Amino acid sequence: MIRIGIVGTSSISERFAEAVDLVDGVVVSRVASRDADRARAFADAVGAPATATGVDDLLAADDVDAVYLASPNAVHAVQISAAVDAGIPTLVEKPAVLSAAEWDALVGHARERGVVLLEAMRTAYDPGLAAVGELLPRLGTVRRVSLRYEKRSARYDHVLAGEQTNIFDPALGGSALRDLGVYPLHALVRLFGAPRAIHAARVGIASGTDGLGSALAVYDGFVADIAWSKITDTALPSEIQGEDGSLAIDAIDAPRRLTLTPRSEAPHGIAVDAPDNPMVGEVERLREAVEGADISDDQDVTSTTLRLVDEMLATPLA
Ligand SMILES: NC(=O)c1ccc[n+]([C@@H]2O[C@H](COP(=O)([O-])OP(=O)(O)OC[C@H]3O[C@@H](n4cnc5c(N)ncnc54)[C@H](OP(=O)(O)O)[C@@H]3O)[C@@H](O)[C@H]2O)c1
Repeated sequence: MIRIGIVGTSSISERFAEAVDLVDGVVVSRVASRDADRARAFADAVGAPATATGVDDLLAADDVDAVYLASPNAVHAVQISAAVDAGIPTLVEKPAVLSAAEWDALVGHARERGVVLLEAMRTAYDPGLAAVGELLPRLGTVRRVSLRYEKRSARYDHVLAGEQTNIFDPALGGSALRDLGVYPLHALVRLFGAPRAIHAARVGIASGTDGLGSALAVYDGFVADIAWSKITDTALPSEIQGEDGSLAIDAIDAPRRLTLTPRSEAPHGIAVDAPDNPMVGEVERLREAVEGADISDDQDVTSTTLRLVDEMLATPLA
């Protein structure tokens, strides 16, 4: 049994604990918060037997075989570093860290020490993305890819009210690109590899970070446009166009309804069979990694995605 310690007490940690409950061979043993009472309340809510006050306390516990880090983005690197130093397998929320260079250095350190370090990019382990990959040959030569994740956040209201909030706070690594843009980007890299070039435009909001943006990625023989937003909603699906047909994807972070339209034929819908909790796949991947699976490809896709994010964040805010 792999005993997992959770860092962070927000709703995503709760969802993660639910996913752990659905996977054999893993259990949540301890929950860490910066505040002892919050740790206890959260542990009670998810049925974890023990708590810790802060990350160091968690890493020193003798009932933690792996950790899941769900703290603000800017805090990830120092927590990963501490976990790797302690020899504890680590699953870190997306985006894993704030730059590709930072990730590559941490992965190098983890590999030297023989410690698992995996990004909790749920899309990568989602049956929906695998289904999309399996359908690609039906499309013929791919010419256009259009992937989007645009969802207005309730926390944008805080920004509009003149308040700072973590996910939009540049000091904590907040950014709509880092929050939602990484899903279509990661899916793009998983499906098609690294583009030859990427050109981005980002729209700024009052908190000092991007609220939405678009990017055009250039591949040999096709282009990919990526759209992300935390300040507007969309009714549009993602889509992949090939010379022999197109595939519409309801949600690229967790594809559940695909519509395949072969050239000159009627569209037909395909339902993806997947667990209700979209974090189950990453928990299974963590278990495989702890049991010895080679995760170097996973780490490389994270590195490539972060390199693209680096380039996109270098563009000035419009
Ligand atoms: N996979 C997904 O679908 C998904 C969804 C949402 C978010 N995420 C990712 O999960 C991570 C957390 O996002 P979130 O929106 O949940 O963040 P958040 O609410 O701002 O913070 C998460 C937790 O981190 C701790 N924390 C807050 N501020 C901190 C600080 N300044 N220093 C250290 N710890 C701090 C808090 O726990 P304590 O106060 O109890 O210590 C809090 O519950 C991000 O990397 C985000 O991208 C993933």
